[in-house]
Amino acid sequence: MCGIVGYIGSKEVVSVLIDGLKHLEYRGYDSAGIAVLHNNTIEIRRSKGKLNELAEMVLAQPVPGNIGLGHTRWATHGRPSEENAHPHEDCKGEIVVVHNGIVENYLSLKDELQARGHVFVSETDTEVFAHLIEEEFTDDLYAAVQRALKKVKGTYALGVMSLKAPGQIIAARFDSPLIVGLGKDEYFIASDVPAILNHTRDVIFLDNGEIAVLKQDGVKITNLDGEEKEKAVVRITWNAAQAEKAGYRHFMLKEIFEQPIAIEDTIRTRLGEDNIHLEEMELSEQQLNEIEKVVIIACGTSWHAGLVGKFIIEELARIPVEVDIASEFRYRSPIISGKTLTLAISQSGETADTMAGIRQAKASGSKIISICNVLGSSIPRESDGTIYTHAGPEIGVASTKAFTAQLTALYLLAIYLGRKRGAIGAERTKELINELRRLPHLAGNILKEDANLKKLAHEFSYYKDFLYLGRGINYPIALEGALKLKEISYIHAEGYPAGEMKHGPIALIDEDMPVVTIAVHSKTYDKMLGNIEEVKARDGIVIALATEGDTEVAKKADHVIYIPHAMEIFSPILTIIPLQLLAYYIADKKGCDVDQPRNLAKSVTVE
Ligand code: M6R
Repeated sequence: MCGIVGYIGSKEVVSVLIDGLKHLEYRGYDSAGIAVLHNNTIEIRRSKGKLNELAEMVLAQPVPGNIGLGHTRWATHGRPSEENAHPHEDCKGEIVVVHNGIVENYLSLKDELQARGHVFVSETDTEVFAHLIEEEFTDDLYAAVQRALKKVKGTYALGVMSLKAPGQIIAARFDSPLIVGLGKDEYFIASDVPAILNHTRDVIFLDNGEIAVLKQDGVKITNLDGEEKEKAVVRITWNAAQAEKAGYRHFMLKEIFEQPIAIEDTIRTRLGEDNIHLEEMELSEQQLNEIEKVVIIACGTSWHAGLVGKFIIEELARIPVEVDIASEFRYRSPIISGKTLTLAISQSGETADTMAGIRQAKASGSKIISICNVLGSSIPRESDGTIYTHAGPEIGVASTKAFTAQLTALYLLAIYLGRKRGAIGAERTKELINELRRLPHLAGNILKEDANLKKLAHEFSYYKDFLYLGRGINYPIALEGALKLKEISYIHAEGYPAGEMKHGPIALIDEDMPVVTIAVHSKTYDKMLGNIEEVKARDGIVIALATEGDTEVAKKADHVIYIPHAMEIFSPILTIIPLQLLAYYIADKKGCDVDQPRNLAKSVTVE
């Protein structure tokens, strides 16, 4: 995690850095700092807490200059504190570094450096970079960084600046994302695109083992052995405004409301009349026909999308699907072969566990397809093909629009596989496509219920525990609804397959336990009605999701949220929306920091 940004050019660097860090706060926000090189000095400002604290500090003690580095931290080694905040310095204060990642051999490196007289002032792993570069420096900063990197084991996105080489920034990447932004006589580094979008849309995505040298007159990129690399410049099509709140109280609320357009943009250009265009799968007809099993790996909300994906792919493509939490998958011995298709789902494309999972699957001969929202991020770059979701930047830590866009991509994939392999014919495909086209509109209708959901949420903001129940394709939505509530409101919530209630959770039910039941029309509708009865018989409070026009559920439940009618297979993309709003309004009512909940980060690039 952590976010880094750097600038060299003619603008006052502090405003560029602070603005960049604001757009990276989703990566971590327990402390922040900047370093500015000016008139033969390096000025550092660092503070514990949110970025605002740092912004106020630099307002009170301004720092002029046109070259600098910034960092927003999510602690891994060393508690959040001013001393542990980046940038970190060498012994003489001549070299500064900002870093995202983990130096795995930092303890042995630190011991060796201390034995040679280096004095460490922080508890971080990052500080070893500053001292290593100090030791390796003779007359060339680039060469010193290059040699230092060869001694380090672990992951890094690194920015380095030195008084001994004043007109340059050195940047390097290994397994932590880093981009170089190209402006007119100005250059940037950043962990992610939104950090520099106010200045440029032309970016280079660094690959593992690459080092960039940024000077006022240009950028040079090499590998660790110093061989120069030709890199493609990618033009970013979305703009900075898409990453702003646009009048909403929080990014999360804005992103919930952006779901109709995220779904629309994800299906746009991919729907034929009775077929799906997914050429980006990069698999031949033969490879598609040879798939014997799909293995989905993902974390958190993306894992929930994968659980829904199992239902969809098995039903439409008739291929067996296994779904694994990536952090579990990587430490067992999964049975993967050349006939397994591994599908990695990740909003950020940077989740370390998911990345490790795809490497393991690849080593067993599996083809890798990813579903990802961030262009050029690491997971797509290690995949054979990527189905990009077009949700636009998701800033709120709690994933919302990326989830519904992932579900949309899974529908596209399942129909595509089913059609190519002959599991579904032209007529069924047409029906499914027609229903897909309706989804943005149906999602929009649910959002019109916003005011009612807000009222309901306020009534329930005082409860301490919630149970979420669903069956079949809506069981993962019960998990996702519960995750949304717990991560932003800190209320304990559990998702369960409703049929399991009688095997344990029923013991929890009493008048203090709201139970959210997903009881839309489905194969298991009657069973859900039974579950509602069971909860009511034990004085539980039922908030039910039901299909528009259903009068039965209203007779049994305490509160009903209506969902427009849709084919059962598409219902998860609709049922999740009110649950997101419910969680949002409960958390906001409780005064929680919705976009940046405690202890979480948007992109989990550490194990
Ligand atoms: O970027 P990814 O989709 O790989 O992230 C996976 C999880 O870290 C993420 O979904 C997390 O669970 C969110 N906070 C959920 O809202």
